[in-house]
Amino acid sequence: MMIHDIPTRFQAASLDTLDAQVRQKVEEWLDAGEVLLITGPTGVGKSWTAAAAAKAWQQKMRAIAERRAEERGYMPDPKDKVLWSSVPTLAGIIRDMEHGESVIAHCREAHLLVLDDLGSEKASEYLVERFYSVIDHRYAWIRPYIVSTNLSLATLAQMWPRMASRLGSGVILSLSGSDRRLKGGAK
Ligand SMILES: Nc1ncnc2c1ncn2[C@@H]1O[C@H](COP(=O)(O)OP(=O)(O)OP(=O)(O)O)[C@@H](O)[C@H]1O
Ligand SMILES: [Mg+2]
Repeated sequence: MMIHDIPTRFQAASLDTLDAQVRQKVEEWLDAGEVLLITGPTGVGKSWTAAAAAKAWQQKMRAIAERRAEERGYMPDPKDKVLWSSVPTLAGIIRDMEHGESVIAHCREAHLLVLDDLGSEKASEYLVERFYSVIDHRYAWIRPYIVSTNLSLATLAQMWPRMASRLGSGVILSLSGSDRRLKGGAK
């Protein structure tokens, strides 16, 4: 599969692993729903934070379903499925017309959508229009989603104003610091 659940690299992510201010923003998003936009340079932990947020969201959805189960005597569908995709990967699939539309439909309808690494490649007008249609659908139906990007909201707004307007409408988390991947720190 090209689009899937939280990747192996980020399986250990949880709210407990986040810095206090970052965690606070993620919790704000958990309460509000809608969109969590995570910006920052490479290696600062955007994908990790997205995974921690997605897992906390799953736990919340399961807890809601369990509470309902006590009231109703049966367990309703927890609606806790995460659809995680890196945007460059997704872009490749969308260009492939055979599967493109069904993947777009999954992105529109997923319980939680995570779009990792938006803006890291040059997108055609067609591609931007397809992504916009996903974002606008989730915005319209008030479905939660998380977007990580190396670009600032200001840059996104210059490139894609209508998309950026929606992406910036929820909780914005700007991460900074050094690249966590470079051991010994290239500061
Ligand atoms: N809070 C954290 N606790 C432990 N490890 C972390 C944390 N944040 C990030 N890491 C580790 O640092 C590495 C880099 O983080 P991550 O991949 O999330 O960066 P990124 O901002 O998404 O980078 P890029 O823009 O290149 O995609 C990850 O592989 C992860 O293992
Ligand atoms: Mg990343």
